[in-house]
Amino acid sequence: MDFAARLSELKKAHLHRSVYTFCSPQGREAEVNGKRVLVFSSNNYLGLAQDPVIKQKATAALERFGVGTGSSRLVAGNMTPHMELEALLASFKGTEAALVFTSGYTANVGVISALCDRDSVIFSDALNHASIIDGCRLSKAKTVVYAHNDPDDLLQKIRETCPGKGLIVTDGVFSMDGDIAHLPELARISREHKLLLMVDDAHATGVLGETGRGTLEHFGLGPDAVDVVMGTLSKAIPSEGGFICGSRNLCEYVRNTARAFIYTTSPSPATVAAAAGGIEHIRDHPETVRRLQDNVRHFASRLRASGLPCAGETPIVPVVVGGEALALRASEELFNLGIFVPAIRYPTVAKGQARLRFALSAAHTHDDLDYAAACALAAIQSVDFFSPSC
Ligand SMILES: Cc1ncc(COP(=O)(O)O)c(C=O)c1O
Repeated sequence: MDFAARLSELKKAHLHRSVYTFCSPQGREAEVNGKRVLVFSSNNYLGLAQDPVIKQKATAALERFGVGTGSSRLVAGNMTPHMELEALLASFKGTEAALVFTSGYTANVGVISALCDRDSVIFSDALNHASIIDGCRLSKAKTVVYAHNDPDDLLQKIRETCPGKGLIVTDGVFSMDGDIAHLPELARISREHKLLLMVDDAHATGVLGETGRGTLEHFGLGPDAVDVVMGTLSKAIPSEGGFICGSRNLCEYVRNTARAFIYTTSPSPATVAAAAGGIEHIRDHPETVRRLQDNVRHFASRLRASGLPCAGETPIVPVVVGGEALALRASEELFNLGIFVPAIRYPTVAKGQARLRFALSAAHTHDDLDYAAACALAAIQSVDFFSPSC
């Protein structure tokens, strides 16, 4: 393969990616590529990445259990912190059991390919995360994509397909649009048609609901409304890893059959202890969740006042620019103004739907949010001004 030619094609299409480097700890602000900026690009929703209590818990686990586990959970890589974290997750989400994976990506790939096979039909929202899409592919099930957040289209597709067995799968909070899945309708449809229902709460855990329990709490649904709640330990919970919560039998079945769980080394004790510290923080400090929700309302009202559309339901606030080049230019403009928001482009979102994806944190002050909203408007106006040349 001619890599240089491929790279140059990506650059020409404004789809080339490069990385920014954080040279400092990550909080509401950080030093990125040598410049002090306000961070509006991280999923550190509750601002816990530098929490001293959580850091202390990770350090204690590191001192007690060492740096690595040496094997997968089913061989010699299962330690007390893993078991404690699973018990904590199950109690936090109100389910019988939980199972921890090395990442949210492997959790989705693992659980979907364990629950479905070539005789299954998976109904997947058009804007589901890439890890769900990859799980569907790996399962070899027939995958039917329904229109984004459209229960009527889902119902029609179920009636057309007449599945014998299958799964409905959706993001709880959609990662690039920030809207919330219509979970009560999906729960009703899944029960009526005897399909399993799975919700990916990666961006809802610690974010939605009065106490941060996620999408189910947001809608006042009990844990039995869905079969699998999946989540990550890498966003509001400031560590790494993924998990599923569900019935004891479901979790045990997945532990026995998910290749992405079985054939990989377990997460390190410090990582797992940090995740447990994050859940304990959410459980014991609902005021942090409320601060985030207040920030969401504040930022949304500021954007709307500037004439930029904003649903304001969650801390993911996309400002859709359209063209890839324009989004890159707007992001650079924001960086110059001291706001770090990378441009999100194809294939993460559809072509021509490039955007600035503002991710809010409980750590932001109202002054930070006011400044970011003013800069968003300035950046959009500046690319509008330059757009004929793009
Ligand atoms: C909706 C969703 N699911 C799953 C994942 C994967 O999680 P992880 O980063 O822990 O692998 C992500 C994102 O990063 C996500 O946004």
